Amino acid sequence: MSAILNTYNRKKISFKRGKGSFLYTENGKRYLDFVQGIAVNCLGHSNDYLNKAIYKQSKKIWHVSNVFTIPEQEKLAKRLKKKTFANYVAFQNSGAEATEAAIKFARKYFYSKGQPKKNRVLCINNSFHGRTLATIFAGNNKKSTEGFYPKVDGFDHFNFGDHKELEKTITSKTAAIMVETIMGEGGIKVIPDFCLRGLRKLCNKKKILLILDEVQCGIGRTGKFMAYEYAKIKPDIVPIAKGLGGGFPIGAVLVTKKVASVMKPGTHGSTFGGNPLAMSAGNAVMDKLFKKGFLRNVKKNGDYFSDKLEELKIRYPKIIKEVRGQGLLIGLALHEDQSTFIKNLMNNKLLAVKAAENVVRLLPPLNVTKKEINLALKIINKVCVDY
Ligand SMILES: Cc1ncc(COP(=O)(O)O)c(C=O)c1O
Repeated sequence: MSAILNTYNRKKISFKRGKGSFLYTENGKRYLDFVQGIAVNCLGHSNDYLNKAIYKQSKKIWHVSNVFTIPEQEKLAKRLKKKTFANYVAFQNSGAEATEAAIKFARKYFYSKGQPKKNRVLCINNSFHGRTLATIFAGNNKKSTEGFYPKVDGFDHFNFGDHKELEKTITSKTAAIMVETIMGEGGIKVIPDFCLRGLRKLCNKKKILLILDEVQCGIGRTGKFMAYEYAKIKPDIVPIAKGLGGGFPIGAVLVTKKVASVMKPGTHGSTFGGNPLAMSAGNAVMDKLFKKGFLRNVKKNGDYFSDKLEELKIRYPKIIKEVRGQGLLIGLALHEDQSTFIKNLMNNKLLAVKAAENVVRLLPPLNVTKKEINLALKIINKVCVDY
């Protein structure tokens, strides 16, 4: 009997080690891992460069409080600033902590501007921003909120793609709109570029903040460092996490100068957020992601994978309904519940993970090879044939 709280539907399988795109069981069985900790291990398992960076740092210093200056943190913040819209960065430990901080910053912004009643955040129904009390009520998915009332107030909602409802739901109390640039858990639903531009314009018109949750779709996953770059817009606040540490837990919130101006010492904090060990991982990930051609390759491999999956959709129209996503954030939407399909992939040594709307999520490491993608395609094809 496991002593672990039963909050996950865990598979019986466990892994002894991983290397790159593969995981190995105790008895040496090899699995092609297109889960990668759910878009976390952006450089694959046990990446030598990342291992060295963490090891080197571990011999110097692991953790010091944020009451001291942390040079490794200064370095990563400057790099994030250089590569994004942001002027300032606040380090956290996870995606939920980062999105919750984003909500706090939006509220604090209007409070500090003398508008304390402007404190509501408008989100998409059935989106996902984490598992803290505030973020589950931001996401407004019954599966996450059931049993956890009373509701954390301060969130309003509209349905994905419903522009009219969105405009109607904005009131004088709305402080920000917060959406995932690509809805991950919600079924790999990409917000089209023109809608993102529309959101930016709407936020400007209403003088409210735009928060783009890039916890899952950021850090090179789409072939751009940040997914919002495709729409050529600048958000006000962006929580990030997952890929940033390449497997080491890190979260961060990117903010503009305007938002940063209201955050004073003591207004927010985190004991672990941005410790030197975590920062060594983040800096190593940045080194790799910004190597010449790396992100271009993510896009190229992502396009190749999606194109080939489209061919499978044409071949198996009764099984595959739609191919969704961008770069290496890919969803295969099936006509029926995807559990058996995912189980069959696993029986054929390919690991994938569920998302809403019958979606099979395929999240290879960002340095996946074409050969590994072809292996995955072969397995997906076999599972379709045997279905
Ligand atoms: C878009 C988005 N936001 C927030 C989170 C929460 O991140 P974490 O699980 O690190 O708390 C997730 C996790 O899947 C996510 O996909």
